[in-house]
Amino acid sequence: MSNVACDGQPTLQQQVAILKQQLAQAQKLTAIGELVSTTTHEFNNVLMTIINYAKIGLRQTDPASREKAFEKILAAGNRAAKITTGVLGFARNRSSGFEPTDLGRVVDDSLMLLEKEMSKYRIRVERQIEPVPTAWANGNQIQQVLLNLLINARQAMPKGGLIVVRLSLDAAADTIDLMVRDSGSGIPPETLRKIFDPFFTTKSGPDASGKGGTGLGLAMCRDIIESHHGRIRVDSTPGRGTAFTLKLPSKRPTANPSQPLPIAQQSPPAAAAEARSTSLNAVDTATR
Ligand SMILES: Nc1ncnc2c1ncn2[C@@H]1O[C@H](COP(=O)(O)OP(=O)(O)OP(=O)(O)O)[C@@H](O)[C@H]1O
Ligand SMILES: [Mg+2]
Repeated sequence: MSNVACDGQPTLQQQVAILKQQLAQAQKLTAIGELVSTTTHEFNNVLMTIINYAKIGLRQTDPASREKAFEKILAAGNRAAKITTGVLGFARNRSSGFEPTDLGRVVDDSLMLLEKEMSKYRIRVERQIEPVPTAWANGNQIQQVLLNLLINARQAMPKGGLIVVRLSLDAAADTIDLMVRDSGSGIPPETLRKIFDPFFTTKSGPDASGKGGTGLGLAMCRDIIESHHGRIRVDSTPGRGTAFTLKLPSKRPTANPSQPLPIAQQSPPAAAAEARSTSLNAVDTATR
């Protein structure tokens, strides 16, 4: 592979970097499309609540019933505003840079967007948010990773189950850990070592809610987390469930303090995908 530019054309390496950036953008657009379809449905439910309580308020003449109807309308209106703010916040992605980021808030924003979907698939979500310092991160990208992990977890539990989202500090490793654990199908060892490969999927196509099946979700998660100088650890037991842990540095990296690593630059070459995991039922992007 030549890395030398001749005749003003981009080198192969530059072309790969450009394509990876385009892939990142395409993956984000897919995520937005999926979110819009989920939240439009939910928005419609909220509107129905507003319309129904407005009708009740008009029919009832006693002040107590009218007040109750107004309260319901206000609560539903607030929820509608939260939904649109959440989607817009995710879609805008104004900043491409890093800043001190409250990961607890990123968790709340992401769970709010998927609340309805989780209850539809009979999934209980448990939040375990410990006090952690702000992370030096691009909140929008971390949200993209988290949404990917949450949707994968939901898809691993077609009959429902439990998702635990845990934010904690690993003092020994100096990392802020964000874990998404599910009680789903788990991942067999021979599959586990391939899950971060672009286009690797075991899904036959998008599910009933239009999500999944391209095999790009985790490849993108890995690129984003590596651009944050972090890593992803996966522990899985077939039949019992899977835990993905994002390990982000708790301090702003000193090597290149003002800039994140470009997403494309950090990815290991395809051959590295063969690197073995640390144990049979765990992989860590740091060892790949
Ligand atoms: N929580 C999980 N439980 C079980 N298997 C999982 C889990 N997360 C990922 N996988 C496996 O890893 C594969 C790759 O996941 P990835 O998110 O990259 O792609 P995908 O979900 O198949 O498609 P998409 O690009 O739409 O996200 C999945 O097809 C699935 O086999
Ligand atoms: Mg996925």
